[in-house]
Amino acid sequence: LLAPPTPRDLEGVKVVVSAGPTREYLDPVRFISNPSSGKMGLAVAEEARDRGAEVTLVTGPVSLPDPSGVRVVRIESALELRDAVVGAAGDAEIVVMTAAVADYRAAERSDEKQAKVAGDVTVHLTPNPDILAELGVQKGNRVLVGFAMETHAGVERAALKARRKNADFILLNYPTREGTAFGGDDNEVTLVRPDGSHEAWPRLSKREVARRLLDEACRVRERRRE
Ligand code: CTP
Ligand code: CA
Repeated sequence: LLAPPTPRDLEGVKVVVSAGPTREYLDPVRFISNPSSGKMGLAVAEEARDRGAEVTLVTGPVSLPDPSGVRVVRIESALELRDAVVGAAGDAEIVVMTAAVADYRAAERSDEKQAKVAGDVTVHLTPNPDILAELGVQKGNRVLVGFAMETHAGVERAALKARRKNADFILLNYPTREGTAFGGDDNEVTLVRPDGSHEAWPRLSKREVARRLLDEACRVRERRRE
């Protein structure tokens, strides 16, 4: 069976995708991070490119090669991610935040390696900015898409996040499903809108999830332009 041809429905449209983890350094040799592989964001960037978009991929440290035909900006921390995404989002029509942004960074990052001490230590963390929420404040006609991983009450929590951040929809997934989410090639997600309406998709390749995500983003964009 032949796959249906890729539509050119994003010809010339500027799309920004964030991907991968962020690293929040405590000292020059230690950081807080998470296991995000960057594969979901890469799939969205490649799918958007193939549909004709001008794509900027802002990615944390991942072991994937840079995709061709995409502007790639490599960052480490959440603060760097914010600068890069906000900078690129200025004239973008679609922004997709797949990045697993660390919620906190060290309140004071040491320039010297911290030697171990006897007994417990306390690390003072301070919250990182919420990039998706910041983009939601001056949203204009932009389509904003988020991801959320939840262990419980997923649909309610994802809808609440979409409302709080002014996102058009969020793709919700769960950390437990074998071969999906972190590191896997497949993903099993539920599309959740701010009003709480939702649609569970079957387990699909990340590329197919990217295709459906961009289909939905195009529908939102069309509706907004009517
Ligand atoms: N996000 C962001 N900036 C942050 C944290 C999250 O832009 N500082 C984005 C993520 O890229 C994702 C969406 O917001 O698209 C939801 O992330 P999530 O971690 O689920 O949301 P939080 O508001 O951080 O809620 P939680 O307390 O559940 O971690
Ligand atoms: Ca978070």
